[in-house]
Amino acid sequence: MRAMTYASYGGPEKLELVEREAPVVEDGRVLVRVAASSVNPIDWKRAAGGLRLIMPACFPIVAGYDVAGEVVEVGANVEGLAVGDLVHARIGEHAGGACAELASVGADVVAKVPSGMDLGEAAGLPLAGLTALQGLRDQAKLPLENARERVLVVGASGGVGHLAVQIARAAGATVVGVCSARNEDLVRSLGAHEAVDYAAPDPYRGQAPFDVVLDCVAGDPAPFVKLLGPGGRYASCLPGPAVFARSALNPILDKKVRPVLLKSRATDLQILDRLVERGALRVVVDSRFPLAELGEAWARSMTGRAVGKIVVDVAG
Ligand SMILES: NC(=O)c1ccc[n+]([C@@H]2O[C@H](COP(=O)([O-])OP(=O)(O)OC[C@H]3O[C@@H](n4cnc5c(N)ncnc54)[C@H](OP(=O)(O)O)[C@@H]3O)[C@@H](O)[C@H]2O)c1
Repeated sequence: MRAMTYASYGGPEKLELVEREAPVVEDGRVLVRVAASSVNPIDWKRAAGGLRLIMPACFPIVAGYDVAGEVVEVGANVEGLAVGDLVHARIGEHAGGACAELASVGADVVAKVPSGMDLGEAAGLPLAGLTALQGLRDQAKLPLENARERVLVVGASGGVGHLAVQIARAAGATVVGVCSARNEDLVRSLGAHEAVDYAAPDPYRGQAPFDVVLDCVAGDPAPFVKLLGPGGRYASCLPGPAVFARSALNPILDKKVRPVLLKSRATDLQILDRLVERGALRVVVDSRFPLAELGEAWARSMTGRAVGKIVVDVAG
């Protein structure tokens, strides 16, 4: 099978399209013929070696974590999935393996693609959508129904943020999205009640206090904790030292700070799929690249300017 791999740390120039053996399907796993994958910043951050302490590498690595495609083999002890099912998943293992014609995926992280959903869009949902859902629900403690709360999504036009805006809106929250001026209309079209331009002077004037802040851009809670009302919660998708240090004070402080560290989980992906089915969630596609141009897709992501998801067409 064709797979996009890298054999040492570096940038997109390290990517190489190679022929390699198809994965063997073990118990509890399925083999997916990958139609599409999508780019997430962790792909190139990991390839650059920035995460080597928490995600040690075993080279060569097959790039990517998100897959959408067709089940072509089912391992032992798998229930509810059959050959021919169209599925998507965020591969659970650190090793990834999505940017290949065939991928072995744990059945516990696989969900069936909603009927009629484009497979490229389906590949854009798992990693970013799980991060948005788990960040809002598990770390920022936003109820998923009747959430009469005021939510600020920082980075509302990005892969995680554009999904978070929609999830929070579907939950019933009042949503304010932080984006650049060029993306304000998009963010409002996704359901944000307000869109604020991060480059404007004093962008949050008249908007605070918030019950929840989901930060998809920065790792410093300080500027956002002061926007929280009593009992407010801040969750960061970039949990660096400042987030962990401030979260240690949660037991003695009213306003909570928590790191977001997503977990692949079929049940959570199914929650997102139900939102897609009822028209409350859609994946915005920034751009699409063939597998052979994964380096260009990474380069686009590395600009930090992607609007929604960058899709990689693996098949055909
Ligand atoms: N902890 C976890 O488990 C986890 C999981 C997923 C992602 N992440 C991390 O979360 C971050 C976001 O991921 P992503 O996939 O959403 O990234 P992304 O799609 O690359 O984000 C790009 C977006 O960020 C916007 N942006 C840039 N600077 C901004 C600012 N100052 N204020 C508001 N928006 C700004 C850009 O809009 P403009 O071009 O208009 O500026 C662009 O639309 C990444 O660092 C990623 O590594 C962590």
